[in-house]
Amino acid sequence: MNRREFIGWVGVGSLASSLPLAIAACSPQTTKIPTPESRKPIATPRPDGFQPIIQLADLENMGQVLVEDFAGGQLLLISAAAPNPVQAINPICTHAGCTVAWQKDSGLLACPCHGAKFSRQGTVEAGPADRPLPTYPVKIEAGVVLVKA
Ligand code: FES
Repeated sequence: MNRREFIGWVGVGSLASSLPLAIAACSPQTTKIPTPESRKPIATPRPDGFQPIIQLADLENMGQVLVEDFAGGQLLLISAAAPNPVQAINPICTHAGCTVAWQKDSGLLACPCHGAKFSRQGTVEAGPADRPLPTYPVKIEAGVVLVKA
């Protein structure tokens, strides 16, 4: 191997070893939201349209829960203060489709991709999103959180 071939191989090796870091740096940030491990698959909606999702005590312990199989999409449940102890929201950001997460400290839902922020009720607090997040009716019966799609 001559000097030129050697330098070429070192260059390829260096590029290959740094590629995973470059890809990771360019990937959108993701926020880990707890998912209810012990929860059974969502049952068929009741005649009134509500579906049991999770025990209220479990949601209160976790603060927020992401359900991935609700009405063909995602559902984010947020534990909140009275008079509405649970907020049910579609967490898909209306800007470009990333999943938002509840940030208790700021009291806002934040998108990890481009920084949009939403209130607990889904209204836009900061762009680039310009449409609110859809919300769902919630009620609590016998300590169980029920949501209507
Ligand atoms: Fe949420 Fe762009 S996808 S701000």
